[in-house]
Amino acid sequence: MKVIVETDRLFLRQMNEDDFDALYLVLADTEIMQHYPYIFDEKKVREWIERNMNRYKETGFGLWAVCLKKTGEMIGDCGLTLQNIDGEILPEIGYHIRRDCQHKGYAKEAAKGVMDWAFINTDYPALYSCCKYTNEASIRTAESVGMRFEREYPDEANGTTHVSVIYR
Ligand SMILES: CC(C)(COP(=O)(O)OP(=O)(O)OC[C@H]1O[C@@H](n2cnc3c(N)ncnc32)[C@H](O)[C@@H]1OP(=O)(O)O)[C@@H](O)C(=O)NCCC(=O)NCCS
Repeated sequence: MKVIVETDRLFLRQMNEDDFDALYLVLADTEIMQHYPYIFDEKKVREWIERNMNRYKETGFGLWAVCLKKTGEMIGDCGLTLQNIDGEILPEIGYHIRRDCQHKGYAKEAAKGVMDWAFINTDYPALYSCCKYTNEASIRTAESVGMRFEREYPDEANGTTHVSVIYR
């Protein structure tokens, strides 16, 4: 297993099919699902893993498994993906943390690690984070690593998407 990002309490590594149970607990949660236009059933979670494994091959990055250093347990995902943001393909930092592990600074710690990784290992001049405009936890997490409001735009999935950005 190769550690891609290491922080004080966490390490991030590539996810794989064996992470299904852990990731299902993260994504198939009503609190988390309220911000998405679809239900995270078993099929969606398996597709999520497969899509990220394909991203690693295609771009060298994706959403990685966020694991506790103390136990090795996977408690969420965080990483870099290419997303269509208001018609442009841009690098986005995304994060999902299992509900019982939230409010402990893990998303902030993981996102900061991913941001540092991206500025060292890619040439992107800016990194973005997007979510539904009402997703305060996600917006606050982006801002906690230094991102700032960039724009809001109407889109089908979110109604209105809120975009945060940080420049290198
Ligand atoms: C967004 C999410 C990853 C945050 O995880 P977390 O580990 O609880 O976040 P942290 O503890 O690192 O907190 C980061 C910042 O967000 C704030 N925050 C966290 N949850 C919050 C909430 N429910 N409401 C308001 N602010 C919140 C924290 O206070 C902190 O800000 P601060 O440093 O200014 O105090 C988590 O809530 C989650 O998984 N949500 C569902 C998935 C999701 O919506 N992901 C983004 C999709 S685009």
